[in-house]
Amino acid sequence: MDLMEKVVSLCKRRGFVFPGSEIYGGLQGFYDYGPLGVEMKNNLKRLWWRFMTVEHENVVGIDGAIITHPKVWEASGHIKSFVDPLSECKKCHHRFKSDDILKSNDLKESKCPDCKGELTEPRNYNILVPTELGVIEGEKTKTYLRGEACQTIYLDYKNVLQSSRLKIPFGICQIGKAFRNEVTPGNFLFRQREFEQWDIQWFCHPSEMDKWFEYWKKERMDWYKELFNNPNNLIFFEHKKLAHYAKKAFDIQYQASPFDGSEIEGIHWRGDWDLNRHGEYSGQDLSYKDLETNETFIPQIVETSGGVDRTFLFLLLDAYAEEEERVFLKLNPKIAPVKVAVFPLVANKEDLIKKAKEIYHDLKFSNVTTAWDDRGNIGKRYFSQDEIGTPWCVTVDYQTLEDGTVTVRDRDTTKQERLPVDKLLSYFQNILK
Ligand code: GAP
Repeated sequence: MDLMEKVVSLCKRRGFVFPGSEIYGGLQGFYDYGPLGVEMKNNLKRLWWRFMTVEHENVVGIDGAIITHPKVWEASGHIKSFVDPLSECKKCHHRFKSDDILKSNDLKESKCPDCKGELTEPRNYNILVPTELGVIEGEKTKTYLRGEACQTIYLDYKNVLQSSRLKIPFGICQIGKAFRNEVTPGNFLFRQREFEQWDIQWFCHPSEMDKWFEYWKKERMDWYKELFNNPNNLIFFEHKKLAHYAKKAFDIQYQASPFDGSEIEGIHWRGDWDLNRHGEYSGQDLSYKDLETNETFIPQIVETSGGVDRTFLFLLLDAYAEEEERVFLKLNPKIAPVKVAVFPLVANKEDLIKKAKEIYHDLKFSNVTTAWDDRGNIGKRYFSQDEIGTPWCVTVDYQTLEDGTVTVRDRDTTKQERLPVDKLLSYFQNILK
């Protein structure tokens, strides 16, 4: 098995991620997060939210609707430009992204990757996911699920300004779902049809675009580097072919990706494209008035837009490790789904179980996600926790009953040290804060 297969298999076996609608044979491009996956994803999202709204001044959040007025997608340019050119094989009728298969832009040279048949000229397919509102057939309104989460930030920008005391420069951030009819979903969580994005839209004065673009580029790269074991695997890639809204764009990429695809996040110079277009299509004045200088202008926007699911996937690939007799996930403790596992040395000694349960409950109710395990032998319990990335295992043994200390075993080194029970919580909290 290659690394990707091992990670996909671990995800299913241990309850991180399941194929969507699996009992019906699955639905391509959709996944469900299981009990451990949702803990890890929530940890990631909490870290991102804290980074944006606590560690930065002048950043507030919103949680916008997934379905918006249909005009939003005309104004945003997605109806016209959110297209993938596809070529169809004249023999087997399979469709392929033209960009993926065209060799040196010469269609005649390219053949169907499946049957080597001749390919048609590329045709454009819009990847927005349409939906209908209303209950009466023939009177339904067609609109779209969000093709990119950030659009609701532009829609709410005036409301945020009017309801807060923000002054330019400021940011509005959001974590939310986006939907795309991807032509070639695949590589597990990498290219899905329903996925989650974390975005900030930073509104600034036109004269400060360069400064803020560079600022957010660095901030975001530094944030990712803190989370990965191998930060050197993260690189910038500058786009030459730009999305319809962008004047400048860099990706943060995971260089060690085992498949074709490595983008985690895009840093985009969106300028005044979005506010101008929404102003024009809605008929509303979306300009900003600076009360100190009396200047009125359309703010320029720097966007950082990342994939929660892609980050989740690349972190698992980065963390997966094998040693002679164990598999372990070397996850940063802050994102590990379970922080501590508590074991009684044996499962049939009431005193040990009582003490271990006390410790388990104390940690758990102090917001340190804690697991309990009294099955099998200690070695098996360690390996089971290693495989899901639990950083520490606490064992309550006979010595605990005499001197109030427990063993704390470290996931990465497998070394154990004895700590007093009453110091455990602060020990873990210090590392996790
Ligand atoms: N608002 C700008 C925007 O949506 P994007 O580069 O299309 O830009 C931003 O998407 C991020 O969303 C990507 O860097 C990626 O991490 C994530 N993403 C995009 N399409 C995805 C898909 N089909 N499945 C999973 N994540 C995706």
